[in-house]
Amino acid sequence: MKKIRYATIGLGRMGRGHVNEILGTGDKRFELAAVCDNAPDRLENLPEAWGHDYRKYSSLEELLKDDSVDLVTVATRHLDHVPMGIKVLEAGKCCMVEKPVASCVAEMKRLLACAEAHPGKLYLRHNRRFEPAFVKARELAESGVIGDVQYIKINRSVGYCRRNDWMTMPEFYGGLLTNWGPHMIDQALRLLNSPVKEIWADVRHVISIGEGDDLYKIILKAENGRLADVEVTGANAMPGRQLEIIGSRGTIVSESDNTRLHVRMVDPAVVFKPLKPHPENPPFQYGNFDERLAFVDADYDLAPCAMTDVWKHCADSILDGVEYPIKFEEALEVVRVTEEVFRRSGFAPMQKFIQ
Ligand SMILES: NC(=O)c1ccc[n+]([C@@H]2O[C@H](COP(=O)([O-])OP(=O)(O)OC[C@H]3O[C@@H](n4cnc5c(N)ncnc54)[C@H](O)[C@@H]3O)[C@@H](O)[C@H]2O)c1
Repeated sequence: MKKIRYATIGLGRMGRGHVNEILGTGDKRFELAAVCDNAPDRLENLPEAWGHDYRKYSSLEELLKDDSVDLVTVATRHLDHVPMGIKVLEAGKCCMVEKPVASCVAEMKRLLACAEAHPGKLYLRHNRRFEPAFVKARELAESGVIGDVQYIKINRSVGYCRRNDWMTMPEFYGGLLTNWGPHMIDQALRLLNSPVKEIWADVRHVISIGEGDDLYKIILKAENGRLADVEVTGANAMPGRQLEIIGSRGTIVSESDNTRLHVRMVDPAVVFKPLKPHPENPPFQYGNFDERLAFVDADYDLAPCAMTDVWKHCADSILDGVEYPIKFEEALEVVRVTEEVFRRSGFAPMQKFIQ
């Protein structure tokens, strides 16, 4: 296979985004072979930039009979991801599945069992793994420049919106946890870099029109002692910093515009002296009166967007056998943590998705 002839199913907001993203990368290894949507109007007036050399189907079953299609990208509603993913794999094609990949661990395991029976064909679209601020922050944190990483705060506001589509409706596995949770939990797990041993969660509904959640706080403690505090909301009119990582020698911060990353760290040349605390009356001064630390500041400009790298990794894997960076066990852990968060928070509308 020299080219990947791909088809996208679900030509809504994101499905159209799949085709536009792939075309936008300019990666000539991809060729649009077909599109599919069960709503007839979604197959009309498609962008000129897509060309005209692709077929249109109104069901997955029809699409899967098209022998020229190598890869199907699934961008339908959440609860269709696993059933469609399994059908695509069973048809012998590669499949890129949108997030949330699955609605519970048991469902995820069914998909992964199918993927094991059809090796090298399943790709999971945790595309915010390639968000520039996250990528750079992770690299810096693991480089040791801020010392031992202790605390990770992920704070994502998706604006203040009385959102009213199906993605706010629990019967469709809607809500902000199932929507943004896969991204932010995935980032938190990578930054923790160690298995999760404790979870605390609060999930609530504030303003969205559907009954799904739109504000949640998740605290994850890992075996290596790191703590991740993840807060995501669609009900915050004044968003703050998106990311803070506190280490024993400094802090990494990403501001809300996500275009720059700041690091302030104790000068790497400084070796902490062994000091003892003073029990007697201190001088009229707070802090440490035995040492003055020198700090170093660094600013990093971030590329506007690297999230489309997910397609490059997919092509590298399909065509050249390069390992795809989003591993099944990592995505399974995202689903497990999400399910556990719903369980621990007791958020009533989503209890039916708990095994
Ligand atoms: N990774 C990301 O950054 C990201 C961003 C946005 C959305 N998404 C995901 O993409 C998925 C779709 O979201 P959206 O906002 O595009 O939804 P949407 O409602 O805008 O689009 C869904 C499309 O699927 C079609 N569809 C539904 N059932 C179908 C079927 N059985 N066969 C064929 N077509 C069918 C609908 O007609 C519609 O056009 C969601 O699961 C969402 O979580 C991911």
